[in-house]
Amino acid sequence: MIIGIIGSGAMGAGIAQVAATAGHTVRLLDQTEAALARAQQSIQANLRKLAEKGKLTGAAVEAAVARVQPTRDYLDFSDCGLVLEAIVENLDAKQQLFRQIESTVSAECVLASNTSSLSITSLAAACQHPERFIGIHFFNPAPLMQLVEVIPAVQTRPGLANEIKQLLHAWGKVPVLAQDTPGFIVNRVARPFYGEAIRLLEEGLADAATIDWATTELGGFRMGPFALMDFIGHDVNYRVTESVFTSFFYDPRYKPSFTQKRLLEAGYLGRKSGRGFYNYQEGAPPPEPVRDAELGRTILHRILAMLINEAADALAFQVASRDDLELAMTKGVNYPKGLLTWADELGLPNVLATLDQLYDDYREDRYRASALLRRMVRAEQTFFPQEALANR
Ligand SMILES: NC(=O)c1ccc[n+]([C@@H]2O[C@H](COP(=O)([O-])OP(=O)(O)OC[C@H]3O[C@@H](n4cnc5c(N)ncnc54)[C@H](O)[C@@H]3O)[C@@H](O)[C@H]2O)c1
Repeated sequence: MIIGIIGSGAMGAGIAQVAATAGHTVRLLDQTEAALARAQQSIQANLRKLAEKGKLTGAAVEAAVARVQPTRDYLDFSDCGLVLEAIVENLDAKQQLFRQIESTVSAECVLASNTSSLSITSLAAACQHPERFIGIHFFNPAPLMQLVEVIPAVQTRPGLANEIKQLLHAWGKVPVLAQDTPGFIVNRVARPFYGEAIRLLEEGLADAATIDWATTELGGFRMGPFALMDFIGHDVNYRVTESVFTSFFYDPRYKPSFTQKRLLEAGYLGRKSGRGFYNYQEGAPPPEPVRDAELGRTILHRILAMLINEAADALAFQVASRDDLELAMTKGVNYPKGLLTWADELGLPNVLATLDQLYDDYREDRYRASALLRRMVRAEQTFFPQEALANR
């Protein structure tokens, strides 16, 4: 099958590399020649690095590079079986694009979007044949991140999501099925990792370095929330939070923070601007955490309880299955374990007690416990069979 990709920026180039490595001819389109040239260079460089590490032969690299065909002409998509867009994150631009390309592709061609924050259903609605439309959400960098969220629109024909999952399996990816709800799985469930950490900082319970220490050293997360936000960039991270918050009709659970908004306003975008929560300028003193085990556990349990609550609610509202939720958070954001597994290990009554204590203290909707969690505690249930827990 020939794959068409529109937008050859960070994501489009990465997805093109994945598809070409899996043996597909890829037609890669961008509105600028410069972006196409950059994409080809980055694909070549990435694949040659793999060859140097012995993961691909030189011949396989050259063949994959040759399979990526740059184009500026939509007519080159006429023989594609799948056309996926990764252009700018703008509803009007994407809808206009799909209106244009639908007349140039074959009747069987599947149309897809890599959007992170727009409703798949609203994009499908721009098409004459919305039943062939689906969300295929890769993570950055696409060649390295295994997780891909597959999101059927309301109009998507039954069976298409499974066909796309099979294709992604063949590409060596780990696909999960997500309902078309704001943030899909990962960008929704991960929100408290940032939001609750900032809340702890705002309340003066601990500084950024201590919260990062608690989550990495005691929790096993690869990066602490502040180091991670600085790495992602506050422009990107704040906008995702804001978009999830507004898309959820202003549910206070997802409320963005003034602290992060001010960093953005100051131009303290994180690593890329030399300053965010931390100072990355040369000579800046390294941050020193307060290594207090009890404080660390309090911090970790509060952040974990909020993450688990979000995962439980996503399960309760059928955003994803139990197993897909676990895969999403371990493969999409590299959490040390799935949040539902973690909940079982901590004990659901303990998680619920942490949430209820927070709710009692603050009387904010932000801390309302998922009804699923409460019912499970009442019924003395766990997310996974207890034997599975014992064998882990
Ligand atoms: N960067 C991420 O971490 C990430 C992760 C997952 C999904 N996404 C989503 O993927 C999409 C692309 O993101 P990105 O980070 O690769 O952006 P990017 O800015 O790196 O690349 C976008 C590319 O699209 C091109 N483009 C814009 N409008 C176009 C049009 N009408 N026709 C053809 N080409 C056009 C631009 O020239 C540019 O090369 C967005 O929808 C974004 O939300 C991004």
